[in-house]
Amino acid sequence: MKMRILFTQDDIATRLDSLADEINRNFQGKDLVVIPLLRGGFVFASDLVRRLQMPVEIDFLTTSSYEDAQSSSGVVEMLSDLRCDISGRDVLLVDDIIDSGHTLKVVRDYLAQRGPRSIRLCTMLDKPARRTVAIQPDFVGFTIEDVFIVGYGLDYGRYYRNVPYIFTFEEEEHDS
Ligand code: IMP
Ligand code: MG
Repeated sequence: MKMRILFTQDDIATRLDSLADEINRNFQGKDLVVIPLLRGGFVFASDLVRRLQMPVEIDFLTTSSYEDAQSSSGVVEMLSDLRCDISGRDVLLVDDIIDSGHTLKVVRDYLAQRGPRSIRLCTMLDKPARRTVAIQPDFVGFTIEDVFIVGYGLDYGRYYRNVPYIFTFEEEEHDS
């Protein structure tokens, strides 16, 4: 299989600058709680929070991934809980990618029970063609086609999360 790079480190950094500007404008003067979803959201979230200019508390939630499979089963398991109190506060939920939408919907509904003042969704990548659940992110890095993405937090068979750019695997072309 051959790697095809979709977004280079420079593409990502440039997009993050403008995305962070947007978020800074939206939450100016607010007491923001940023909640990255583990594991996929950790790389994107760490680059994003270092560009934010308001006071930020960071806490984490872990949801189950679909491990070796390439598509969501629709069953989302919560593997770890928050340690901070979000009631009456503004929450920014950060994930690597919205695919079917199951994960962010489940997590958003779960957080809503804790009485936050607001919940906004931020994703590095959005695959709207794959959506089976009605959910719309508020802040999106890149909107992409229906291809399986790897790198920058996203894994393929549990590996490659550390790759600093975003790529897809392609079948090699063979002469017949
Ligand atoms: P959803 O629940 O179907 O929206 O998918 C949520 C999770 O599936 C994401 O947070 C990712 O961890 C994983 N995922 C979805 N699409 C991809 C992909 O193209 N590459 C790697 N992981 C993916
Ligand atoms: Mg994920």
